[in-house]
Order: sequence, then C-alpha cells, then structure tokens
Amino acid sequence: MKNCVVVGAQWGDEGKAKITDLLAQNADLIIRYQGGCNAGHTVVAHGKTFKFHLIPSGILYGNKICFIGNGTVILPEYFQQEIDGLKQENIDLSGLKVSPLASITMPWHTEIDGQSERTAGKGKIGTTKKGIGPTYTDKMQRIGLKVGDLYSETALSEKLDIILPVKNKQLKELYDLKTYTKEEVLELCKKYAEIFRPYVCFEWQELLRNAKKENKKVLFEGAQGVMLDVDFGTYPFVTSSNPVGGGAAVGSGYGPKEIDEVIGVAKAYVTRVGEGPFVTELEDEIGTLIQEIGHEFGVTTGRPRRCGWFDAVTMRYACLVGGLTSIALTKIDVFDNFDEIKICKAYKDIRDGQIYYDYPTDVFIHKYLEPVYEIMEGWCEDITKVRKYEDLPRNCRRYLERLEQLLETPISIVSVGPDREQTIFKN
Ligand code: GDP
Ligand code: IMO
Ligand code: MG
Repeated sequence: MKNCVVVGAQWGDEGKAKITDLLAQNADLIIRYQGGCNAGHTVVAHGKTFKFHLIPSGILYGNKICFIGNGTVILPEYFQQEIDGLKQENIDLSGLKVSPLASITMPWHTEIDGQSERTAGKGKIGTTKKGIGPTYTDKMQRIGLKVGDLYSETALSEKLDIILPVKNKQLKELYDLKTYTKEEVLELCKKYAEIFRPYVCFEWQELLRNAKKENKKVLFEGAQGVMLDVDFGTYPFVTSSNPVGGGAAVGSGYGPKEIDEVIGVAKAYVTRVGEGPFVTELEDEIGTLIQEIGHEFGVTTGRPRRCGWFDAVTMRYACLVGGLTSIALTKIDVFDNFDEIKICKAYKDIRDGQIYYDYPTDVFIHKYLEPVYEIMEGWCEDITKVRKYEDLPRNCRRYLERLEQLLETPISIVSVGPDREQTIFKN
C-alpha cells in the first residue's frame, strides 16, 4: 500500500469510513486531519455496525496507531462519549493518540453555533451545531485553546487572561449569551485534561519521523467532502475546514510529498444535509425512493439527507481541487431495481440557456441552473454479492465506464453494500 488520503468527493456521507476501514487493514498509521464530531462515520464489520465521529475508523483493528491530528477540532465531552462506547465494545484503544496541537471546542463554541443558526434567518447554514465554525474561527483569530495548553498551568492562565476578555465581550455584545469566569474555565480545563491525558501525544514529532524512516504506511482519513470545503465548496454553505486532499498535509504534519494517492469517495448518486445549493436535487418520488433504499439519514444529527442524481459537473471539479488520483464509488447497489439511471453531465442556465461543463463557483447563480441529463439503462439485478468487476452486469459496467469518461479519473474501488466484504477492487 502507498500513503493514501481518503477524501469525500461530494457533500459528505459518501461512505468514507467504509473505505478507510477497508484500506486500514494494510496501513500502520491512520490520521484524521480535519473536522470534528460534525462527522458521522459508519463501519460495518463482522455483522456489527460502529459509528465514529472523531476517532479514526482504523481503530477496530487494534494494532494500528490512530492519530487525531492538529487540523481537527475536539469537543471533549463527545470524545469521552465515543471512547466510552468503544470501551464497552472491548475495542483496544492503546493505539489512539491525539495531537497536542488539535483545537478544543469550548462550551461557548457550541452555544455560539446554536445561537447563530437560530438568528441567521435566510443565512442559516444548517450546521451540525457542534461548534465547528466558532472553534475554527477562534483558531484563526488566535484566541483558541489547544489540547496541549491543558497541561501547563501558567501558560493556560496567561492565555485565558487574553482570551476571556475578548470572548466574553463577543458573547455578551454580539450573541447575547452567558459569559465565563476564569475560575469556571480553569475548572473545565482540569476536567478536559483528564479526558485527554491517556491519549495526548507530546511525542508526535518522533511518531511521524519514525513512521517516515521505517517506511510505515499512512492512511489519512478525511471527514466531510470537497463540496463542503471552506475554500472550494459551495461557500458559505460549507464546513470550516479543508477536507480536500491538500488538507491532509496541513492537518497532520506530514509533507505533501509523502502522499502518493488521493482516493475520492463518491456515491452513485448525491446527498446533502443542511442548507445550500444542490442542482440535481430530486424533490419527487425518485428522491424519496433513493432516500429509503439508501437509508439516507444523518449519523450525527439524524436529519434526512436530500437526494439527487449523480452530478458529474461538481464531481469533475472535485477531482481537480480535491487532488483525486482515483475514485471509490459507493452505494451503486441502491440502483439495483432502477430501470434507468440519470447522470448530470452539464448545467443549463434557465435565464439565457448558457451551458456549463465546468462547475460555476458563484453559488448564487445555482438557483438558475438546471441539470442536463444523460440517461443510462439500469441493470435490474442484485449486485450485492458480486466481488469481481467482470461479474458485474454489463449495464452496470457501462455506467461505471461512462462515469470514468466524464470525470477523466479512474474508478479504483466499487462498493456494493455497507459491509467490508461487499467491495470490488477494480485494478
Ligand atoms: P461517511 O460519513 O462518508 O463515512 O459515510 P456515512 O457513514 O455517514 O454514510 C454512509 C452510509 O452508507 C453508511 O450507513 C454506510 O454503512 C453505508 N454504505 C457505505 N457503502 C455502501 C454501499 O456500497 N452500499 C450501501 N447500500 N450502503 C453503503
Ligand atoms: P461526514 O464526515 C455531511 C454539513 C452540515 C452543514 C455544513 C456545516 O460524516 O461526511 P458544520 O457543523 O460542519 O459547521 O456544518 O456541513 N456537514 C456534513 N454533512 N457529512 C458530514 O460529515 C458533515 N459535516 C458537516 O450538515 O450543512
Ligand atoms: Mg457521515
């Protein structure tokens, strides 16, 4: 195995965790490089379903190092809950490590997230309300706390003397929210220090240096997806981090030259949770059918996911900006009973008829765009037990080959069900 990044290539929930878990069997080190517990990652193995938010999906193997990198944001109480859940399942957590440079989501971050969403009106983003945006905002404003700060009393005290006056002013004047005393924050930080103590890895430089020297195989686990990327996604309807392949270097401490492959995970259709443009969205019985067959309900919030046909325009863009070297196509089995399947190969502007083959980055015109579809014949048979590419029905292979043509990127993995076993490696 080469060093590989697994990236969501659409709006999240593409089945990244299934692919990460699968590839993790040949990896030594698995690194989460961005996002926080806004992510909901499902792995089905040995007939059991595991749901992860922060902890890398590779943890199930027991003998891997799973590192939560500097680019992530961690809500300590959620982290603790996840740990407790895994301990109950007797999962070995001895390989779990957290970067001291990871940012901490404080209670005011979740409070601001909730309040901003409540008062945003038309500007509502439909966030997961896990404090993601406000935590990254403070990181960038340089008034955030990092995991490592919890272990130095004097540094923490000095930092809070700078942070709290700014934060309390914002909380009171901008958000009409409760303010915090230094004493109560210090008390919270003590609690957080205990939560992270068994996992915080101050020796992370040694960990990465040795991994390089010993040619260890590294798997970088992305959360969210390219279209939710704060730079390249449907801004402002995005998350606040960089899920793109390039984010793996920034969020881990590994250099870009260490990365050999970027696998973009995409569903055979598209889903989206929360607000924001979605040109191929189906607000009809086909959309409902895809939602039902695909069980399209959020892992983190339980919200129903909006569904639509495969969008080759955004996906071609995702291949470019996400740095994808190949695609893992998931949930293709959801179409097993469909007579026909549509692929959006261009957008048409209803105002003047202009055709777009390249993704228009000005999302405010997306409401004027309609999809230009190509219709493919379905295969109308059960493919969930197929394990070899050649054994897929002809129409299914045609569909996959057409996607490769439109995306100018090879498909390396085809997933035909949620289980580890239900996977076809194409090459
Ligand atoms: P992630 O956030 O990208 O890791 O994806 P989620 O876990 O949020 O959602 C993907 C869902 O699809 C999970 O319930 C998976 O078990 C399921 N899944 C993954 N691959 C397949 C597949 O090929 N077929 C079907 N039917 N389900 C799949
Ligand atoms: P995984 O890793 C799908 C969406 C939210 C919202 C926007 C901003 O499971 O693919 P945030 O809470 O991040 O500020 O919300 O991003 N979102 C996701 N959608 N899957 C995810 O993660 C998501 N994480 C955030 O619904 O639209
Ligand atoms: Mg998910």
